[in-house]
Amino acid sequence: MAAGQNNARTAQQGASQWSSHDHRNLPTTVNVSGGCDDRCMTTDYWDAAADTFDEEPDHGLLDPVVREAWAGRIEEWLPDTPSEVLDLGCGTGSLALLAVEQGHRVTAVDRSARMAERARMKLAGSGAEVLVGDAALPPVGERRFDVVLVRHVVWALPDPEAALRHWWTLLRPGGRLVLIEGVWGEAGIPAARLRAALESVADAVHHERLSADASLWGREVTDERYALVAHVGPPRRHTEVVDVHLIIRRGGEVLLARRANTGYADGLLNSPSGHAEDGENVLQAVIREAREETGVELAPEDLRVALVMQHRGPGAQPRMGWFFEAEYGAGGEPYNREPDKCSELGWFPLDALPDDMVAYCRAGLDAYRAGERFVVHWHEDDDPIAYDPEGESRAVVLAATTGRPAGR
Ligand SMILES: C[S@@+](CC[C@H](N)C(=O)[O-])C[C@H]1O[C@@H](n2cnc3c(N)ncnc32)[C@H](O)[C@@H]1O
Repeated sequence: MAAGQNNARTAQQGASQWSSHDHRNLPTTVNVSGGCDDRCMTTDYWDAAADTFDEEPDHGLLDPVVREAWAGRIEEWLPDTPSEVLDLGCGTGSLALLAVEQGHRVTAVDRSARMAERARMKLAGSGAEVLVGDAALPPVGERRFDVVLVRHVVWALPDPEAALRHWWTLLRPGGRLVLIEGVWGEAGIPAARLRAALESVADAVHHERLSADASLWGREVTDERYALVAHVGPPRRHTEVVDVHLIIRRGGEVLLARRANTGYADGLLNSPSGHAEDGENVLQAVIREAREETGVELAPEDLRVALVMQHRGPGAQPRMGWFFEAEYGAGGEPYNREPDKCSELGWFPLDALPDDMVAYCRAGLDAYRAGERFVVHWHEDDDPIAYDPEGESRAVVLAATTGRPAGR
């Protein structure tokens, strides 16, 4: 059956096919690459399927052997401790009921009102909540869950990857996404596609093949059936580059260097600066950078902290910048020691700085002149790197404590 061939069928015909022939011959426009177009699996289709849905052994779990097999798997895939479970595309609520029976609190969502009605009946008195809504964007507001559980639904969504990305945001740290999917004849979604999508976000993806376990399906099956359990790792520790900047004062002037051939901000002026290297503290880093760029040999006692600025370039990662001040004369006469990266060194009045500067460096020097100590400079992605005298400043000065009780 080619994708889209069966669109003329009625929803009722589709529903009876579903229950009598499992997932084969579905009136869908889906194919084994996964994902439906908007004719596929309409709410009417699922509404019509609701009354007979539980007749399939793995849907209704009416056969004790099949029920036991699913109960065992669910116990294995869900956390050992009572957890908040979000069951998306819950159908008649069979898996939700297993989860509740294992001590979890369940919120179930289905777009089909008829399926949701059946799920409410099945889950009555269990404390589970059943909502009507789109699995891809479930109506759960700001709530977060330990588990997002989805069986035989991803294949029927128009954009499975987008849904996975959203579900990931619904998980708490340490949470997990449990997907149970397969390929049934010409319908379904292969594990490889979902694994690829998950491996870019998940710390670990467990892939369990389910085809060989006939007790899950009430019969032998040979097609691809699987579960993927993807874990959200603990929050990652934030890391960022530290850079150091040197403000050499000669009376009312400061030393600036014009960048060249570096691929970043070439042609613009900034303070002599660079990154701290592994194992270096910021004082060591600025002393090294001063030597490498200007030939000045500073001692630690020549340096004072001018300010600290967290800054982010357009579309770039944040960095922590330490600006140090030194007096002209300490360490010798500066000269351009890196002519391959710097086209000139020059002295510029601090109270009339040039416009052709790197924007965050200009903001740092303006803040320094104003006596500020802590600044955040956060570019928008499409901001220019260069200082724009007409543009909105991205600098935000942070209030610094005096170390004395307030008001003294
Ligand atoms: C094959 S059934 C699976 C039901 C249930 N997860 C189970 O395993 O028994 C697919 C279910 O997904 C629901 N569904 C399909 N697309 C949906 C969507 N976009 N949002 C919410 N539910 C959806 C259907 O209404 C149907 O109940």
